Amino acid sequence: MSDDLETLRTETLAALQAAPDLRAWDSLRVGVLGKSGALTGLLKGLGAVAPEARRERGAALNRLKAELEEAIEARKAALDAAALDTRLAAERVDISQPPRPEPQGSIHPISRTMEEIHAIFGAMGFGVAEGPDIEDDWRNFGALNIPGHHPARQDMDTFYMPGERDGHRLVLRTHTSPVQIRTMRGQEPPIRVICPGRTWRADHDATHSPMFHQCEGLAIDRNIHLGHLKGCVVDFLRSFFGIANLPVRFRSSYFPFTEPSMEVDIGWNRKTGDIGGGGDWLEIMGSGMVHPKVLANCGLDPREWQGFAFGMGVERIAMLKLGIPDLRPFYEADLRWLRHYGFAPLAPAMLHEGLA
Ligand code: PHE
Repeated sequence: MSDDLETLRTETLAALQAAPDLRAWDSLRVGVLGKSGALTGLLKGLGAVAPEARRERGAALNRLKAELEEAIEARKAALDAAALDTRLAAERVDISQPPRPEPQGSIHPISRTMEEIHAIFGAMGFGVAEGPDIEDDWRNFGALNIPGHHPARQDMDTFYMPGERDGHRLVLRTHTSPVQIRTMRGQEPPIRVICPGRTWRADHDATHSPMFHQCEGLAIDRNIHLGHLKGCVVDFLRSFFGIANLPVRFRSSYFPFTEPSMEVDIGWNRKTGDIGGGGDWLEIMGSGMVHPKVLANCGLDPREWQGFAFGMGVERIAMLKLGIPDLRPFYEADLRWLRHYGFAPLAPAMLHEGLA
């Protein structure tokens, strides 16, 4: 091989090995094999070579061309493979790495208790009625037979709002009983509803919060009597606490909106806090037959329609059922408390079916 070809060969092969990437490789390729490349130029110059030397030189040029083409292709394959390796390394996913934990929320004990109350009364045929937190004092007091001078108005430590509606002062409702008024005035009997929701009283200690939840119940129909009230409340309490023979006592009491009125107690052990036995009684809800004046205030003739009502504090029965000693953390959004007392979203309801 003549010197010029040998030089082209060694220089090209060395430059190919040194080409760091496909760009460098491509300009090298064009520089050798392209239209105005070095080798192409030599091939073009073949015509000027003396005829006796032309044949040999032509053959040498063609061998060189074949060798360089092969070397160029081989280098491209090597650069391609290296580029792929770099990409694979950069995009590498470490599937052996443990996943980052997704924090999971939980159902608040109040929500959970509400769901249970809904489920039990729902199975008995009660619907759910709701009303606004801000009420006028006629629905919160007057219509419920609690006159202006009545001590219940002070007992309930009412939050008064600025302003009035239809000549009545606005209050943060102190109980969900105004929803019963709304329901009786808004629909024809028969009525079976529970009224869950937020309620407000200016009171704050370990067992009282200025905002808390109540669930009241109302049944209005012809010939409703105290036996219906007792059966309904006893069934609810036994089902809610999951104790088939839970002792339940109805104790005569007074509410302006019911007559007769009864406090409902359940059996428990004062020392251990265990619900169900132990010889002590624990007050758990208020109840009674809807007062004739309340019926009349709602446009119902008390000689035709009767009913019973009851009301309970949701936090209170949640604390008793779940063994939570203090009311305040219910609203503090402390994740440790929520994880401890909260419920998994898909956990089966703690309802106890088939109670005798
Ligand atoms: N509204 C009463 C309260 O908040 C509870 C209650 C409701 C009592 C219905 C009797 C009947 O204390």
